[in-house]
Formats: sequence, structure tokens, C-alpha cells
Amino acid sequence: MDRYSQPFCVEKKWNQVLEWNFTEPNIKWFSGAQLNITENCLDRHLPERAHVPALIWEPNNPHESFRSLSYQNLFEQVCRFANVLKNNGVKKGDRVCIYMGMIPELSIAALACARIGAIHSIIFGGFSARSISDRVQDAHAEFIITCDGAYRGAKDIPLKKTVDEAIQNLAFVKKVFVYQRTNSPVFMQKGRDVWWSEELKKADAICPAETMNAEDILFILYTSGSTGKPKGVVHTCAGYMVWTHYTFVNVFQYQIGQTYFCTADIGWITGHSYIVYGPLSAGATSLMFEGIPTYPDAGRFWDIVAKHQVHILYTAPTAIRSLMAHGLDFVKDKNLSSLQVLGSVGEPINEEAWHWLYKNIGKEKCPIVDTWWQTETGGIMISNLAGITPQKPSYATLPLPGVQLCLVDENGNEIKEAHVSGNLCIKFPWPGMIRTTYNDHERCRQTYFSTYKNAYFTGDGCLRDEQGFYRITGRVDDVLNVSGHRIGTAEVENAINACKGIIESAVVGYPHEIKGQGIYAYVVCEENHETTELQKNIHASVSEMIGAIAKPDKIQWVKNLPKTRSGKIMRRILRKIAENELSNLGDTSTLLDPAVVDDIIKTKI
Ligand code: WTA
Repeated sequence: MDRYSQPFCVEKKWNQVLEWNFTEPNIKWFSGAQLNITENCLDRHLPERAHVPALIWEPNNPHESFRSLSYQNLFEQVCRFANVLKNNGVKKGDRVCIYMGMIPELSIAALACARIGAIHSIIFGGFSARSISDRVQDAHAEFIITCDGAYRGAKDIPLKKTVDEAIQNLAFVKKVFVYQRTNSPVFMQKGRDVWWSEELKKADAICPAETMNAEDILFILYTSGSTGKPKGVVHTCAGYMVWTHYTFVNVFQYQIGQTYFCTADIGWITGHSYIVYGPLSAGATSLMFEGIPTYPDAGRFWDIVAKHQVHILYTAPTAIRSLMAHGLDFVKDKNLSSLQVLGSVGEPINEEAWHWLYKNIGKEKCPIVDTWWQTETGGIMISNLAGITPQKPSYATLPLPGVQLCLVDENGNEIKEAHVSGNLCIKFPWPGMIRTTYNDHERCRQTYFSTYKNAYFTGDGCLRDEQGFYRITGRVDDVLNVSGHRIGTAEVENAINACKGIIESAVVGYPHEIKGQGIYAYVVCEENHETTELQKNIHASVSEMIGAIAKPDKIQWVKNLPKTRSGKIMRRILRKIAENELSNLGDTSTLLDPAVVDDIIKTKI
């Protein structure tokens, strides 16, 4: 077996590798270069790897046949669908929202956009109509690609219906492309909605790749922040390609011929970078799974590993914890001998889950890479290299070569010593980094580049041990990480406050055995309104405005929220109460009314 060693194909070489400043910020990698990422993910592999599987797709239902798409086959399908897009008026620079289940056509749709220089914005299939609507409007996407429905576990999710609801008042949407996955009946608006399969019949098989400048936008991915609506993180063509490729081959030590399975959803950044672009740029065989880890039972991942002889498994701590809770019966008869490397992403992996994975899945012979990164970083930033650099349970360990980290204290000063905690920042640009937030550059500057001078602020707290190993301790801002999904507390509060009878609310995270973090809502409502009915309304409102993933795990009715004299909610105290750290509430003297806190503690659930 071999490492992948072909050079990228570029139409024109760069004039300058990097120009940058973090004050505006303005970051340009490989200025002057021209390329198309799909040529590097597809065409480039055809001479030698045309018949190697590029994507293996495992359906939700284990009795349905799996699909294997060779590089040749994927190339053809991407070109054909790219022509469908073109035939329907999609042009370079247009935004295309994609709202689909985990099927190969989702990857094909994204790559087809990239082929013609359209900007894709993939929306996770669990988001509500309102969330779709917000994103379609923010990106001003005139085109949407969706499915009739999606299978996830025992559920059949009506995606097209949700899209219809999302865009009912958005007259600027010109076309909706519908792929039939579940064959459930859907409404098709004449002139606007077209069937994927019908359009495909009319499309040419050959589609030359659009020439893109290095810094042209490749995609927008919306992600939650500490304030307001989700922001559109912008990634550009060349830098993102280089970073996902470099990190994929090095972190996993990918060898040609290995089957690699990332369990993430393509609706999140992990799927973008490590199901689609990174692996395909490396000529890898990337396995994608339509369903959930517990369907039809908690042995499904292990069945997939055995069935497809998976060598590398990249998954999330929340999945591991949930499978752990189901017990070893689901693991014991499974043949996991093909596994060579395991990976974790999305949230801190606790030691118990790490050891469970190491022992029961990796049989103490597979290195575990704990990879820290973010939507904004495009690719992995801190991780051990599988089998090459040391691993340490619950530590992401060391920055990848090229990544310049620093820890800062609350005054913004860099802490240089070993064995310290601080806020994690990055001092120097890397090719995969966020370039802007779509249509709102100031928001990008404010969020990431204004807290500390000349540094990108990650929003994470971090500890560095005596050896210089990094351990991420979690978000220090108002972003929650629920089952590895990023959710802004402000978004949840807005959804709660939109319910009739609610006066105000404050949402914080608390440790949750399976999800990592659970959502704890303190809610003030009009007098005598504390009913289960209102509780239901809150859940319905959150599901409607964000999606079911953001429903609070706990709702506590309170008379008042602890506020400072200037009216700011003291979340620190609410967090401590939710975490049950009642003896350690810290200074409450700056509160307008310290008695509020006692009241909240008394009625804690
Ligand atoms: C958290 C996911 C600890 C972190 C790729 C970060 C992690 C947020 C790890 C980004 C890890 C991600 N250890 N925490 N290995 N990986 N995180 O944008 O808080 O969905 O800021 O990107 O997840 O989440 P996002």
C-alpha cells in the first residue's frame, strides 16, 4: 500500500502563496492560481483509479442494496448533473441551497455546483422550514436541490414538504430540483419544481470544469454563533482544497486502497471536509451512511465495518457514548478486524468513551486520532497523526505542522508557560480558514478577530499540559455543543420567547451523559402559566424555528432571571446551577437582586 502522492492539477500557478492581515481581516492564499476542485477530486484520478470505488453508500435499511460509485461513475454523474444545473439557468457565482438526506446524490449535487462554479450551501436535513428560509434568504439562493423525503432510522422525513413551506413566500427562488428517494407523493409547483431524473435524461454527459480563481467562493455553510441568526461561513477554492487534502492524508495516514468511513452528516462541516472533499481529493474510498447508529439496532456501525471491511472509522463522542450505553452485546460477535485507525471529532471525548472505543472497537491496536477543529477552520487543526505521534486520552494533543496556536488569559495576554489554561487562539493564517461571513464581513471581524489583537479567536477554552499537549475544555461563549451539533443559546431563547405567555428566558448548557451537553432553559412566564401545555408549546416553537435537535432537555419555570444592575443576565450563575455546582456560585454581589438566585436554586429540577 502507498501514500497518495500525485500533485494537484491547476490551470495556472499562483503568484503569491499568502497575503494577510487579521485586522480587516483579509486573507488570500495562492493568489493568481486558477483551478477547479472537482478536477482534483475526480478527473485527476481517472487515469489510474477510474474503477476504484470513490463512494460506497450504505442505506438506512440494511436489507436494501448498498451502492458503490467508482471514480469514473461519480465523475460522469457529477458532469451530467452539472449540466442539469446549467440547463436550468444556474451560473457561476449563483448560490444553490441543498437540503437532502445522506445519499450519494447529495455529494453529487455539491460537486456539480463546484464543477460549474456555483456556490453550494448545504442545510442539515434536521433543520426546520424556518431555518431553511433564513438561509435561503441570507444567501439569496435562487436554486434549491432537495429530495422527496429521507430515511433516518424508523422515520421517513418529508424534505420537499419542508422546502415548500420554507420558500412559500420567497418568489425569487427560480428552480427546485427534486431527487426521488422515498417515492412519497410530493407537490410540484409548475415552472419552478423539476424532477432530477427527468432533467438528467436531457443532460449532456460532458461538462468541462469552470475555471475558478483561488479565492473564489467554493461554499457557504451556516453555523451558530453566540448572537442572533446563524452566520454563513465562507470557504474558498484553493486553500480549502489544500487544507482538507493535507489534513486527511496526514491525520489518518490514509493509504491508497483503504476504505474510510466518516459517520458525520454532510450537512455539517465534518461531512463536507471528510466525506466529500478531503477523501476524494486523495483518491480515497469514502463510505457514507444514510441512517443512524442505533437502527435497526445499536450494532449497526459494527455491521457496516464488517460488511465493507472498513479500515478507518471517524466518528463522534456522542455516538460512542450512546453505543456504550447499549452495552457490549452489540459488539461482541462483530468482526472488526479490518479496522486500523479510529478518529473522533465534534466535542471533547471523555476518557471513559476514549477507553471504550480503544479497547472494544480498536482492540487496543488502532490508534485514535482526536481531531479538534471548527466549521470556520475548514479542516483539522489539532490532532495526533495516526500511529506516528503520541495519543493521550481526552487530548487532541498537538497542532498540525503549520498551525500556530496560542493560549490567552482574560486580559488578552499570551500565556507561554506549560500546564496552563486559557482561551484558544490562532496567530497565523492557514489555507482552510474562514474568509468572511457571507454578506457581512464586519460580523466576521467582530466575532473572530476583534476579541484579541492579531489573532483568530476560536471561542474554545483549552488546557496545555507539561508536554505541550492541548486539551479542549469546551466553548467559552454562548454556543452549545449538543450531540456534536452547534447551537447558539440566543437562537433557542428567541424561539422560546416567541411563545405566547413567555416573558423571557435564558438558556445554558449542562453536562449530559450521552449528548455531551444538554440544553437547560430558565423561563419566566406570565403568572399562572406554568403548564405542561406551555412546555409543549416551547418544544414546538423550538422545533419550528430551529429544528428538533435544539429542544430543551430541561425547562425550569422561574420568577426572575439573575441580572446585573445594567440588566445583563448572569449566565455564569445559571450555568453553575444547571451543572449542580451550587457551593461554587462565585460573586453574586453585583446582582440587582441576589435573592433571585436562592429562588432558582429552590425550584431547581
Ligand atoms: C468542538 C466541528 C473537543 C469545539 C468539526 C469547537 C471539539 C466546535 C473537538 C466546532 C475535539 C470540535 N475536542 N472539542 N476534538 N472538535 N470540538 O463548527 O468546541 O460544528 O469549537 O465543527 O466543536 O463545532 P463545528
